[in-house]
Amino acid sequence: MSKNEELQKLKEEMEKDNSLPLKKSDTNLVFGVGDPESKILAVGEGPGYWENLKGEPFVGNAGKFLDQLLTSINIPRGSIYITNVVHHRPPENRDPTPSEIAAYGKYLDEMIKIIDPKIILTLGRFSMAKFLPNARISSVHGKVHRVNWRDKEIVIIPMYHPAAALRNGEVMRAEKEDFLKLPQILENIKDKESKEKVEQMDLI
Ligand code: URA
Repeated sequence: MSKNEELQKLKEEMEKDNSLPLKKSDTNLVFGVGDPESKILAVGEGPGYWENLKGEPFVGNAGKFLDQLLTSINIPRGSIYITNVVHHRPPENRDPTPSEIAAYGKYLDEMIKIIDPKIILTLGRFSMAKFLPNARISSVHGKVHRVNWRDKEIVIIPMYHPAAALRNGEVMRAEKEDFLKLPQILENIKDKESKEKVEQMDLI
């Protein structure tokens, strides 16, 4: 089965799951969008008004700003995969609770397993906390963190949430700088991987 087919199957499972705590008669499932073959997965917080309406993550103001940030480093939105920690809109756009995040977590974990990204960009503190539970976003944003995730190393790069940047000039400045650093970080990760491959070949 291709990654697309596996994701479609997972989406269908989620659609049938009536135990999901934010699923209401007026909420749509906002599963994820983009290229499942990408090495980069971006994980936000949860759908807002426009995302719920369109069934796609990051299509409102925060999403437009995210698109601008990606464009500034020549990464088209469609070339990465984008999802959230919860996949139904929390009422009045409130923060998702720990038990809601846990309930959707099994599906996010499955998505990560299927996509198998090398790099996860966490957008905001809720997705950061999944991988770096003790970190403070003000200290770790824009930096590379290698975590062992289900026996596999994944690079986590915590970013401020684009909506936080739209609300605060200082965060906006940091967010733009962090995104501008990304191409070099991606290059370094690629270099490290090729070096490791050569070292492995030398051992054989
Ligand atoms: N904010 C998020 O965290 N996710 C979305 O999909 C939209 C806004």
